[in-house]
Amino acid sequence: MIPDEDVERVRDAADIVAIISEHVRLKRVGSVFRGPCPFHQGTNNNFSVLPKGGYTCFVCGEKGNVFTFVQKRLGMTFVEAVKYVGEKSGIEVREVKAHREGPDPREPFWEINGTAAAWFTETLWNSPSAKEAREYLASRQISRETADRFELGYAPRELGLMRAYLNNLGWEDDRLLQAGLLVKRAEEEEPRPRFRDRLTFAILDAAAHHVAFGGRLLGPGEPKYLNSSESEVFHKGQTLYHLNAARQAMRREERAILVEGYFDVVRMVDAGIEPVVAPMGTALAEGQAELLRRHAKTVFIAYDSDAPGQKATFRAADVLLAQGVAVRVVTMPDGDDPDTYVRAHGRDAMEKLIANSLDVFDRKVQLLERGGWFNDLQRKRRALDSLLPTIRACTDQLTREMYLARAAEAAAVDRSVLARELEAGASRRARTSAPPPSPTIRRVRGEDEEAPVAPPPVQRVGPYRSTVEASSSERDLVRVMMLHRPLADAVIEGVGRLSDGEMERPDWLPEDEEQALPPARLRDPAYGAIYEALLEAEVSLQGGELVTWLGDKLEPWVVRLAEEMLDTPESMMNPQASIDGALRRLRERSMRDRLAELDRLTPIALGEQKDRLIAEKQRLNNELRHMGATGWKGYRRP
Ligand code: GTP
Ligand code: MN
Repeated sequence: MIPDEDVERVRDAADIVAIISEHVRLKRVGSVFRGPCPFHQGTNNNFSVLPKGGYTCFVCGEKGNVFTFVQKRLGMTFVEAVKYVGEKSGIEVREVKAHREGPDPREPFWEINGTAAAWFTETLWNSPSAKEAREYLASRQISRETADRFELGYAPRELGLMRAYLNNLGWEDDRLLQAGLLVKRAEEEEPRPRFRDRLTFAILDAAAHHVAFGGRLLGPGEPKYLNSSESEVFHKGQTLYHLNAARQAMRREERAILVEGYFDVVRMVDAGIEPVVAPMGTALAEGQAELLRRHAKTVFIAYDSDAPGQKATFRAADVLLAQGVAVRVVTMPDGDDPDTYVRAHGRDAMEKLIANSLDVFDRKVQLLERGGWFNDLQRKRRALDSLLPTIRACTDQLTREMYLARAAEAAAVDRSVLARELEAGASRRARTSAPPPSPTIRRVRGEDEEAPVAPPPVQRVGPYRSTVEASSSERDLVRVMMLHRPLADAVIEGVGRLSDGEMERPDWLPEDEEQALPPARLRDPAYGAIYEALLEAEVSLQGGELVTWLGDKLEPWVVRLAEEMLDTPESMMNPQASIDGALRRLRERSMRDRLAELDRLTPIALGEQKDRLIAEKQRLNNELRHMGATGWKGYRRP
C-alpha cells in the first residue's frame, strides 16, 4: 500500500489535463478542457476535465479523478495508478508492505535533518554567537521573513552545541554521523560538526523531506560552500535546491529557471519569480535534468556570464537536450548573477532578460559568429565540431532538424554534409576508447572537498603503457635527451619543426575529449611532461642529478617513469640514428593527421579552396609513398 500522505502529494502535484491529454484530444473551453469521451467512444466534446482535478462525461456519466482515469484507461490497480501519476508528476511514491507496517527506514534521517534545521534557525536568530551571521544576511539584504521562508540558519563555531542538543533528543552519534551532520576523521577522535561558522540552507527533496544542508562561509575562505555528504536520503545528482516549492509554479508557468546558487534562488523567489531551482555546485546531472523534464517543457538557464558560467551553461544544456526539453539561455550582463542583478534592478528587469533569452543553439551560433568562427575554413571546422555534439545530444527530432539547418546556414555548408557527419560521428564516438590518463588534475569549480575531481594519477602497476600513436618514438626522443645530454638540442630543434599549426578552439566551448590534444608538444602526457621539463634543464645535468631536478617539476609517478627510462638496460648504439628514425615516424604521424584533417575540411570547403585541399592531399600522399612503407604500416589511425 501507499501512505495516504504520498497519495495526497501525488494528487496535488498531478497535472490532470496533461495526463488525460495523452489519451484524449482536449481543447480549452473557458476554464475547463473538453474533448470526445474515451469511455463511450464519443465523437462530440462531451467529456470535460477540470484543471483542479476531476473529469465528467455528460453523456455516459463516467466521472472521477486522475487516479480513476488512469486505472480505467490503462487497466491499472490503484497502487499502479498512483505510481504512474507520481512518476509523471515528479513525486516519489513509497510503497509500504501492508502486513509489516514498519516506518520508512529513511524517516529518522528526515527527522534528524528537520530537527537540525530548526536548531540552526533558532541559533541564527537567538544566539549571541550568530550576530555576525545576522549582519551578513542584512548586508545581503535578506529579510527575516525571506530567511525563514528558506529556513536559513547558522551553524555555530562551537563544537558540542548541536551534538548535545540532538543527543538529548535521543539521536545517537552514530545516526548523526550517518546523516552527515557530524564527521569523524580518525577512529579515536571525537565527532565534530560538519558545518561550523556557516550560514545554512535547508535542502529538501521533492516530497518536502529535509535531506541535507548547504553551508556558506561568512567571510573569505575555502571552500566557500559546503554541502552535506551523500547519504541514504541525499543524492546530490538527483536533488535540485528548492524544487519542492518551485514545481507548482513550473507547471503553472510552463517554465523552469535554472540558476547556479542558493542565493540566486532566494533572491529570485523573494522578488516573486518562483519556478527557480539550482543544482548544488555540481555540473547538472542526468537525474536532475530528468526532474526538470517532468515539470516543465522549457528550461531557462540563468548562470553567471563569466567563462566558467558559460561553459557550465552549455554543458547543462546538452544534458537537458538529451532529456528532450527546450533550452533557452538567459544572458546576464557582465559581472552579474541573478542575485546581484535582481537586487539591483528588480523583478521586471529580470523578466525582461528572460524574455530576451535565446534558444541555446542560437546563442552558440551567435557567439561563434561574433567571434568570427565561421570566417576561415580551419575555424569553421572547429566551430562545426563544437556544434555537432549539441545536435547529437538532442533527442527531439524536430529540434534536431532545426539545429542542423541552422548550423548549415551559419557555416554556409550543405545540410547533407552535416547530416552525414552526425551519423558518422555517432558511430565513431561509440568506438573510441577512454582518453589517456593526464598528469595534471584540473579542479572543477564548486565540487565538494572530499570528492576527488579526477582520479588520482595512478599508482602505476607494471610498465607504463601509452595510448598515443607512435608513442615509442616519443619515448626514444626523451630517452636520448636524458642519456645523451649534448644531443638534447638536436631533438628540441627537430620536434620544433614537427609541431606546425596546432589549432585553436573557442575557449568557452565544452571540451570534446576526442578533439583535445594535450598541450605538450609531444602528445603522450607523460613523455610530453618530461620533455617540457627537459627544455629547461642544463646540459650538464646528468643521471641521478637530472632525476632529482625533474623531481621538483613533475608528479612522482612521472619522475619514476623518467628514472626507469634512464635505467633501461636496452642499449642505444647510435643516438643520432635514434633521433632520425623517431623524428621521421613522428613526421609521418603529422602528415597522416593532416590528411585526416583534409578529409574533414574538404566537404565543408567551397570552390577554389576545395581544389587546393585536394591538391595538398595528393602532395602528402606522394610524399608519404616516397618515405617508404615502414612508418605507414606501423601507424594506423584508430
Ligand atoms: P555568493 O558569493 O554566495 O553569492 O556565491 P556566488 O554568487 O559567488 O556563487 P558561486 O558562483 O561561487 O557558486 C554558485 C553555487 O555553487 C553555490 O550556491 C554553491 O551551491 C556552489 N558552490 C560554490 N562554491 C562551492 C564550493 O566551494 N563547494 C561546493 N560544494 N559548492 C560550491
Ligand atoms: Mn552570488
